Amino acid sequence: MIKHIDNPNGHFLYIGNTALSCILKISCGKAELLHLGAPLAEEDCEALCGDTLLGWGCDVRYREGDPRSCLDDLPLAWSERGTGDYRETPMELLYEGTDICPDFVYFCSGSLKREELDPVLPHARGAQETVKLVFRSANRLLQGLSLELRFSLFETALVRQTVLINDSDKPLQVTRLMSACADLHGCFTVSTFDGGWIREAHMHTVPVTRSRTVNESTNGFSSNRHNPGFLLSETGAGEDSGVVYGFNLLWSGNHCSSVQRSALGFTRVLQGISPEGLCLDLLPGGRLETPEAVVAWSDRGRNGMMKKMHRFVNACIIPAAWQYRERPVLFNNWEGTTFDFNEAKLLSLAGKAKKIGCELFVLDDGWFGDRDSDTAGLGDYSVNLRKLPNGLEGLSKKVRALGMQFGLWFEPEAVNPDSECFRRHPEWVLSSPGADAFYGRNELLLDLTKPEVRDYIVESVSGILDRAEIQYVKWDMNRHSPVTGNKAYAYILGLYEVLHRIFDPRPQILLEGCASGGNRFDLGMLCFAPQIWASDDTDPIERLEIQDGLFSLYPQSTVGAHISAAPHAQTLRTTPMSTRANVSFFGAFGIELDLDRLKPIEVKELRETVAWYKQHRKAFQFGCFRRNRAEKDALCWQAGDGDETLCGLFHKLIPAGPEIEWLSVNGLDPARIYRVEARPQLLRLAAFGDLLRHVTPVELNADGPALRLADRHYPMRDGGFSAECSGAALRSGIPLSKRFSGTGYDAALRVQGDFGSSVFCIKERT
Ligand code: DGJ
Repeated sequence: MIKHIDNPNGHFLYIGNTALSCILKISCGKAELLHLGAPLAEEDCEALCGDTLLGWGCDVRYREGDPRSCLDDLPLAWSERGTGDYRETPMELLYEGTDICPDFVYFCSGSLKREELDPVLPHARGAQETVKLVFRSANRLLQGLSLELRFSLFETALVRQTVLINDSDKPLQVTRLMSACADLHGCFTVSTFDGGWIREAHMHTVPVTRSRTVNESTNGFSSNRHNPGFLLSETGAGEDSGVVYGFNLLWSGNHCSSVQRSALGFTRVLQGISPEGLCLDLLPGGRLETPEAVVAWSDRGRNGMMKKMHRFVNACIIPAAWQYRERPVLFNNWEGTTFDFNEAKLLSLAGKAKKIGCELFVLDDGWFGDRDSDTAGLGDYSVNLRKLPNGLEGLSKKVRALGMQFGLWFEPEAVNPDSECFRRHPEWVLSSPGADAFYGRNELLLDLTKPEVRDYIVESVSGILDRAEIQYVKWDMNRHSPVTGNKAYAYILGLYEVLHRIFDPRPQILLEGCASGGNRFDLGMLCFAPQIWASDDTDPIERLEIQDGLFSLYPQSTVGAHISAAPHAQTLRTTPMSTRANVSFFGAFGIELDLDRLKPIEVKELRETVAWYKQHRKAFQFGCFRRNRAEKDALCWQAGDGDETLCGLFHKLIPAGPEIEWLSVNGLDPARIYRVEARPQLLRLAAFGDLLRHVTPVELNADGPALRLADRHYPMRDGGFSAECSGAALRSGIPLSKRFSGTGYDAALRVQGDFGSSVFCIKERT
């Protein structure tokens, strides 16, 4: 509900539903934020004003005589420098090169119409209600300049946006315009999701203090360094209790958010585009619309907040055609072949992938131009006929004849100097004015701020999509930007225009975003691409941290996750296939290794794995995600959709003589009886090495032909477990069967070991 309330105490705006509420008061023309968080009632408005003594000592008042006009002491939903609020400002305007304070004063409000939204920026869909508050400049020089604060109420989140409209006769420059400003009361910690290539989204938590904490990306993209999403948790909040706010931004470029506690105990939260190097012209008649900022709130800890945020992303961000639509099991050739393939090799992989149960075959990098390495070909769209003599159409037809969909990799934003595109149009390259472009992964970016470059990409990609009947696109981008500030900002708008033009008319294509893995994992991209390749790191133990971080902000279906080869290409870590699968199940699942090199036993295991996964994929992809209690150094992920609940229990290093392990499951009916069944997993004979001589009647060499042959064909079973009990018992925890501890092997044993894991399926007993 959105309601304006006028009474002798002032003008209030109540925005709220059962998930959260936001209460504003117009105080001396400014937007005071009385509350943002718990779902309160409109009757609470007045009590929230309080009658605290404001404006003592050297404090200044915006309106002399009005004690409520000491803006520095008020919680605000917007603020400007030069009005007495000395906390970090959400806006900076320049007039003739000098900082100017427009002094925005409340003018009117109204609802927001679809046609008022910028057609290029991504927007969340399906708001329950919207409202915009319009403020007009009281500065004599800037008459006609106005500011709109937009609020859109969604079932589980609030979305905010800021718009500056220059109907004055003065040219202005904007060096900072945040999407949202909020002052919250409470003591908080802030959790950010940081990293770099192959180690994205690691969660770091620090207390919010009087010093400003900034979460910013300046590499041109939302970045693998600092994801735009972050959490504010009240001190003491845990997985299931306490207040947690989740914040995020629908923007794929440089972003900046900050938190800082004020003298009176408010935490100022700013979210928006990074101001670094930004100086945008706002000419008479012009307008500037920020990206949308999201906030979700829960008093049920991180799990409660994730539930609301995931629901918001699934229902209001993911393109309509893919909303809650199960994603195909994907096979991608990249980690198996890199650039070294031809049609015969691809068809061999496709045939095997089909037999394993994959539904979509994706041809990755290397199908065009002279692309035998990452030094040539980017920017060109002519098919490499040496590798693919029947062209993409021929390959796509053959793959589809096998009964699989066909998908293709593109990196349309980049160009290699060794390419036809660059030779014809060196002037298309993105660089700072007057500076030489510089390289990343042997490539340069194309200047997407140029209409002719955008046209080239749209025409080239669209033509291929239609000719080869492509059902999936992996849209990659493999370097940081060479530009900053205005140019980096305009680049992202250019990218959004290109994505609209290619994919709006082709909603049936499943688009997967990628930027060297997760260098652009954000809500802006998710408005076009229902899933994003989370990381080039597919080691499941590394992925535990990466995916766990991402799940704090993004639902499982958005997180591309594949089984790859072991030992792993980046860590050299050897992990069981079961763990590689169990981690990838909690994501948009796929397989990415050379199937021609698998042992028969591995093929069998993959076939069983994919068949089992398909029976449970809906709950894995769209079930309500949460983290459960687990022993030290272990992780327990749960996804449940009402019909069934899946729990993944993951171990890193196992101690000798491990304690009894317990499985806790949440969200079940305490009175009903459930059946718990572990996913059947295979155990390789080779895992026991020379220990086998203790159990075999004849002396066998662990590295001899007999055991190697047996290892290739004959599996042992691991991790068998089943039980029946009430939802109450599962919530409290049930003991699992014993783990290997030098005590021999039997069918009930869970061998596990370092990097071992299990997945349990819990269903009501019928
Ligand atoms: C980086 C991506 O993250 C990989 O998955 C792969 O597509 C390569 N680029 C191809 O060059």
